[in-house]
Amino acid sequence: MIKSPRGTRDLLPPDTALWNFVEAAVRDVFRAYNFQEIRTPIFESTELFARGVGEETDIVSKEMFTWEDRGRAESDKGQSLTLRPENTAGVVRAYIEHKLWERGLNKLFYIGPQFRRERPQKGRYRQFYQIGAEVIGPPSSGSESPARDAEILELLATLLDRVGIANWTLELNSVGSPSDRARFNDALKKALAPVVGSMCTDCQRRAVTNPLRVFDCKVPEDQPIIEKLPRISHFLDESSRAHFDQVQAILKSVGVPFVLNDRLVRGLDYYTRTAFEFTHGALGAQNAILGGGRYDGLAEALGSAQSAPGIGFAIGEDRLVLSLTESAESVIRKPDVYIAPLGAGMNLPAARLARELRRHDLVVELGDEAFKLKKSFEAAVKIGSRHILIVGENEVKADAFAVKHLASGEQVTVPRSELAMWIEQHN
Ligand code: HAM
Repeated sequence: MIKSPRGTRDLLPPDTALWNFVEAAVRDVFRAYNFQEIRTPIFESTELFARGVGEETDIVSKEMFTWEDRGRAESDKGQSLTLRPENTAGVVRAYIEHKLWERGLNKLFYIGPQFRRERPQKGRYRQFYQIGAEVIGPPSSGSESPARDAEILELLATLLDRVGIANWTLELNSVGSPSDRARFNDALKKALAPVVGSMCTDCQRRAVTNPLRVFDCKVPEDQPIIEKLPRISHFLDESSRAHFDQVQAILKSVGVPFVLNDRLVRGLDYYTRTAFEFTHGALGAQNAILGGGRYDGLAEALGSAQSAPGIGFAIGEDRLVLSLTESAESVIRKPDVYIAPLGAGMNLPAARLARELRRHDLVVELGDEAFKLKKSFEAAVKIGSRHILIVGENEVKADAFAVKHLASGEQVTVPRSELAMWIEQHN
């Protein structure tokens, strides 16, 4: 038997109804904040992620699905391509490619699959889905303002409340400017030098390649050492500090609760200043329901001549759906009526009737004239239809149809012209 590849999964009904419910609610929220949708390819040049996300990150160094795309003709050059592990680099690539700075501030959102070769477990898949947004533009458009950071965080609080996620925690940090981080890195290396020998092998490697990543360590024995390391919060310069203070002041004034976590460094290299995660208890080890932050130098790193500060986030849609208390059954719209054609030749009038009722926005399931009445009733009950409607020769002649409300057993004969209204009103 052929099975879906490791770390991937099929989303089946009724769960897909829950996914659609989430996406519809999210689209409403984005509309209220004047965001517009962007769709970028699911694969990009490998170089985009190497330069955008960072060669030293786990994502780029070990989790990407990459292949060499041979040219189809002599003149075609081959190229290394990669299934996107995230979408921020792609959006910024599109921003540069299509000169989106000419439109001022861009507020863009996306919903789609991402790919990382991680060890699969609950809430962690190799194909997973993100709902993300990016606010990006030239500095003159206000893209660097702490007001944008606070607005994004307030949007997220609204969005999670709207889809019914209770008890989330917003963890907030500032990872500073590149020069803040350079000073912090030096201090970190100095502090690690005498202790790193007793840490895990991952940390020993991190201490050399990217000391900041030591804060990602989950090994219990290393935690007392990590607790004593210097924190980025002590290395913020005047302007980073003021920016972060302003973000917090706005959040307090609009009533979005947060906790400061100066160990939060995020797993991608493009972040500057504000960085955040929303966590949720129901998720277990993979408890980050979403993450994001500011990336003021990313456009330049990807070759833009103009600076384009930005901030964004991505929600793990799989994890969002896992944390919902809503059940799939409760968001599915059950059929309003099951039409049961009774006897030879009745498929035709039944099809006409179904077409009419569906034009009135009713959800209609259509049976088959080959079914006995008993089988039609069973089918109607099985799919949870509210009514069953019989289309037999007598009904067609009279142009009036027997409709039965399945829950109450109430049955009446209704003229064709009043059918839609009758069904609608009898819930
Ligand atoms: P990220 O933290 O790598 O950030 O991913 C964001 C979210 O995607 C995570 O919090 C998690 O919910 C979900 N996620 C990540 N990997 C997996 C996986 N293997 N299986 C299931 N869910 C997963 C980014 O991707 C950035 N692009 C976010 C961003 C946008 N920053 C600025 N703009």
